[in-house]
Amino acid sequence: MLTLETDDEKVNRAVLLLKGGNVIGLPTETVYGLAAKISDLDALKKIFQIKKRPFFDPLIVHVSSINQARNQVREWPKSAEILAETFWPGPLTIILNKQKHISDLITSGLETVALRCPKHSLALKIIQEIGEPLAAPSANKFGKTSPSEAIHVIQEFGEEIAVIDGGPCDIGIESTIVKLEEGPNLIELTLFRSGAIGLEEISRALKVLKKEIRLLRPGDGIESPGQIKHHYMPNIPLLFIDEKKWSHLGDAIEEKTMKLNIKLNLNFKNLCILDLPQKPEQAARELYSKLRSSSSQPFDLIVFIKEDHHKGEFWQAILDRLERASTFNLNVK
Ligand code: TXA
Ligand code: MG
Repeated sequence: MLTLETDDEKVNRAVLLLKGGNVIGLPTETVYGLAAKISDLDALKKIFQIKKRPFFDPLIVHVSSINQARNQVREWPKSAEILAETFWPGPLTIILNKQKHISDLITSGLETVALRCPKHSLALKIIQEIGEPLAAPSANKFGKTSPSEAIHVIQEFGEEIAVIDGGPCDIGIESTIVKLEEGPNLIELTLFRSGAIGLEEISRALKVLKKEIRLLRPGDGIESPGQIKHHYMPNIPLLFIDEKKWSHLGDAIEEKTMKLNIKLNLNFKNLCILDLPQKPEQAARELYSKLRSSSSQPFDLIVFIKEDHHKGEFWQAILDRLERASTFNLNVK
């Protein structure tokens, strides 16, 4: 459908809908979000209901400025200031201790809140006009493939919500999420989700503070359900396989099934090889569209072959999504 709405009209419509207690499909540079005002508890509940998301999975709070971010947290450490100055607006989410007004619905009862300033002019204008942050998870059903175009959100939710079309997302995968804990001589940095901005870049930016930087792994508890094993899943089974095993697929499957002591009746005739560009920036941009279009065709199985050149932090972030999206994983570790 051809839409003749101008950006101002889109912003006005979004603001009216949000003020009227609705949830909207919001474009960001990473993926589309399902957004509601942080003060509107009924609309926040609708997000969980529409997405079929469990309440234990907290939402990201989207701000339009560093100043607004500061007002959502108890302390705004120097390290947060530097990361925000360096990477915002952009695909980095920072977890800090929350202010009282941030609802438990947003944080799933945690004392911390995840903050991000998106780099999409429509998202920024909408948040500015509303005058308060917007809570938004990715606009897909829980556990399913994320949306990187407005049409994906429409396909996912139909008439249930209005979607503000901001074009295809520039980054294409979700933001990097880090938790920051800063002491007098030490900054503890926990990576909850990898993304386009890598830990190397983040650590480099923090060096100016001349403090020790300690990298931590998230605890075993479900502190960040982005850690959930199955996530981003397409509607058709996805096989994640290392190229070293691909030429011996039959052997690899046999080895795995023998190990697990199961018998599989695999009779996949129509395979779809997921073909991604070499450059991670481009691959991320196309990832969810390709997963969605492949799973809308009559294939039995989608196959992603991990190749040797899939290296570096950005590729790791893409591989992380693909591993979680896969039904069968024959990766060489
Ligand atoms: O790029 C993005 O981050 C997109 C766009 C829309 O901004 N949003 C997104 O939201 O990916 P969602 O809900 O799909 O993923 C957010 C992740 C969840 O895995 C959630 O558990 C984690 O952020 N999260 C949110 N608040 C947290 C907190 N206080 N502590 C730990 N993890 C948190
Ligand atoms: Mg998500």
